[in-house]
Amino acid sequence: MSAHLNVLALNGSLRAASYNGYLLRAAVEVAPSEMTIAGFDLGGIPLYNADVQAAGEPGPVAALRAAIDRSGAVLIASPEYNYSVPGGLKNAIDWISRPPATSPFQRKPIAILGASTGPSGTMRMQVQLRTILQSVGAYTLPKPEFVLAHCRDRFDADGRLADPKTREHLAALLAALAEWAGRF
Ligand code: FNR
Repeated sequence: MSAHLNVLALNGSLRAASYNGYLLRAAVEVAPSEMTIAGFDLGGIPLYNADVQAAGEPGPVAALRAAIDRSGAVLIASPEYNYSVPGGLKNAIDWISRPPATSPFQRKPIAILGASTGPSGTMRMQVQLRTILQSVGAYTLPKPEFVLAHCRDRFDADGRLADPKTREHLAALLAALAEWAGRF
């Protein structure tokens, strides 16, 4: 039997009816039995300021740092904003990346996914997020990729991921993350 894996879920979207939030909710439903997924709301993270960090990290940042540190892996779902990573998500990563030597992102197994209402399905965001995560020393799962275009069609009126093929694909991503995290 494989070891239990605690996964921290982060959403690049802060809105309540976020499709990416719905994806993370579906991830809890389809996760392998040896995986627990818990979310952390990035809404309380202030703008990065190195002076503030030097004087003492704000509470929400310290809480995020501790949550990443405790987790065996991180799952990041995010929309694409203007062909890129949403500023709030990038800002949170910037806080946690410093100082690099003790950042909990170092060697952290991470899987990424994203949903967009348009045709590109967050592909451009994901390419850029992979580069950022490389910079902070994380081990980002290379495959399978999870890119959900025209995502409105895949959820029902309650925000449940209704499409069976997408649910299967999400389960495959999580199984791959469990296997990936087990290597480190
Ligand atoms: C978007 N959206 C969007 N979609 C996309 O595929 N590529 C893009 O570059 C953008 N840019 C963009 C910028 C901003 C500021 C917003 C608010 C939205 C649309 C986006 O895919 C859609 O709003 C999603 O529903 C956002 O994800 P959540 O909030 O539902 O998780």
